Amino acid sequence: MDHIDLAHSRTRQAYNLTADRYHSLFRDELEAKEYDRMLLDFFSDRLNNGSLICDAGCGPSGHIGRYLANRSMVITGVDISDRCIELASPLNPDMHFVREDMARMSFENDSFNAVVSYYSIIHTPKNLVHIVLREFNRVLKPGGFLLVAVKAGSEESLKTDLLGIETEILLSLYNENEIKEQLTRNGFDVFFSEKREPYKFESNYDRIFVIGEKR
Ligand SMILES: C[S@@+](CC[C@H](N)C(=O)[O-])C[C@H]1O[C@@H](n2cnc3c(N)ncnc32)[C@H](O)[C@@H]1O
Repeated sequence: MDHIDLAHSRTRQAYNLTADRYHSLFRDELEAKEYDRMLLDFFSDRLNNGSLICDAGCGPSGHIGRYLANRSMVITGVDISDRCIELASPLNPDMHFVREDMARMSFENDSFNAVVSYYSIIHTPKNLVHIVLREFNRVLKPGGFLLVAVKAGSEESLKTDLLGIETEILLSLYNENEIKEQLTRNGFDVFFSEKREPYKFESNYDRIFVIGEKR
């Protein structure tokens, strides 16, 4: 197992343990997040109906993909956690799900019109995040779009608690320039980035959203 596999197997274990709690806390969160709904509208307005979207790190609810599916997109949810996929699949019968590491997906080159990574690269070591971004680039069609959401900060730390459950999970934070540079270095032309403050019911990190187009 190389370094990225080791790091990601920790993520898998952590979300297997916490998926049910995550689902009960966050499945309806978009209802209270007007900013995020507007962002997802802005993103999907650039895509034709029926566009193929990979929701990379879809989580146990698949609710980001669900929002886009309700806007006539065709969604494939990918998650490394068995329990996340087990929960998300029956909830979203019109979406397709696979349990895979997004650092090494089974899709052919040029498979998707867009990839959405909503708080999923935050568990990858920063010095290895290029592997995941290159993989997003590979599965995107030329001219395809990538939306990345991260939490703002500078550190990378190993947490021993996720949603009140004891488990080890890496948390990698980014500043806006850093995440934009990562996309640029890994095959994307960045044309949008924005930072917002956390909603009062969210954890206390600013949120950063970056959109790039595959070069
Ligand atoms: C913070 S949750 C976000 C879930 C969902 N995108 C959302 O916004 O609510 C991170 C999700 O990404 C998944 N994830 C993290 N690293 C992954 C990887 N390397 N491959 C696939 N899924 C991954 C986790 O299992 C988890 O479900």
